Amino acid sequence: TPDTTGLYAHAGFPVGASININLLKNNATYSALVAKEFNSVTPENVMKMDAIQPTQGNFTFGEADYLVSFAKQHGMRVHGHALVWYQAVPGWVTNFTGDSSAWENMLKTHIQTEVAHFKGKVVSWDVVNEAIDEDGTLRKNLWLQHLGPDYIARSFQYAHQADPDALLFYNDYGHEYSSVKRAAIITLVTGMKNRGIPVDGFGMQMHTNTSVPDNAISAAITAVANTGLKVHISELDISLNPNNDQNMTYTAALASVQSQKYQALVKAYNALPAAQKFGITTWDVSDADSWIPPYYHRPDWPLPFDASYKRKAAWQGIVNGL
Ligand code: XIL
Repeated sequence: TPDTTGLYAHAGFPVGASININLLKNNATYSALVAKEFNSVTPENVMKMDAIQPTQGNFTFGEADYLVSFAKQHGMRVHGHALVWYQAVPGWVTNFTGDSSAWENMLKTHIQTEVAHFKGKVVSWDVVNEAIDEDGTLRKNLWLQHLGPDYIARSFQYAHQADPDALLFYNDYGHEYSSVKRAAIITLVTGMKNRGIPVDGFGMQMHTNTSVPDNAISAAITAVANTGLKVHISELDISLNPNNDQNMTYTAALASVQSQKYQALVKAYNALPAAQKFGITTWDVSDADSWIPPYYHRPDWPLPFDASYKRKAAWQGIVNGL
């Protein structure tokens, strides 16, 4: 008999997806699937800076509020993403002229207006996203340039002031393929924790693929968890086509390899202490709405649901890993 239980109900921790607001509003198959399978949601784009503050002082919360009310209606957790990032920056910020105190004030106002708006509705935030480069140094982005290296710690303090109950995460990618970057991320976050900065855990994006070995993924999860802080697998997808083969087609064999990798990842995550398991979130829901094909200009099938919103072998792989 088919398994009619939603994915999240199989797990002892929250299971979610990033949500495309247009599909949530306009595609009933999509929204029903989201409500059935998940108990946590992350906005794919609508809480990023360009969406929330498109021009200075003009805060536009409508689309994010729609997602928050959908989540409330269905008893789902909302994880906020992302307060401070070097992408999705509105033009007025790129062109912002002002001294470092004007920049500081602008960053603080953005963080605190957004976090205060969602206080009591968004339980956790990716406060700073992707601030470390592949070589382990701080990414030379506009925030670093104008505010110096401590912009990261101050962002956490600002968010905490606006909502002392929210759990605050540092979110990044690459832990599973770069031990240099992973070590730098761990040093950054534990360093903040040790000096009293309010940081609760790590978002490990985990945009991975079928050629990354299972033991690299499990070693990364274990290394991050050894800090004792919370671990969120925050943007999971498993690409079948990391080499950008324009002619690739989806086969049962590929689906099975992918399912095994989902299973191994979930098994490694599930072995962590319960208090550290903040949850697993896939980045998007189905192969029809994955960000990867349009972003990387290639065919791909990275998610647990197919382009018709049907469960794939990967769905069963996740359940088998629990
Ligand atoms: C992506 C979205 O999925 C796309 O729709 C958008 O065009 C670009 O951003 N890491 C992150 C996410 O932290 O915010 C990114 O989301 C994917 C990579």
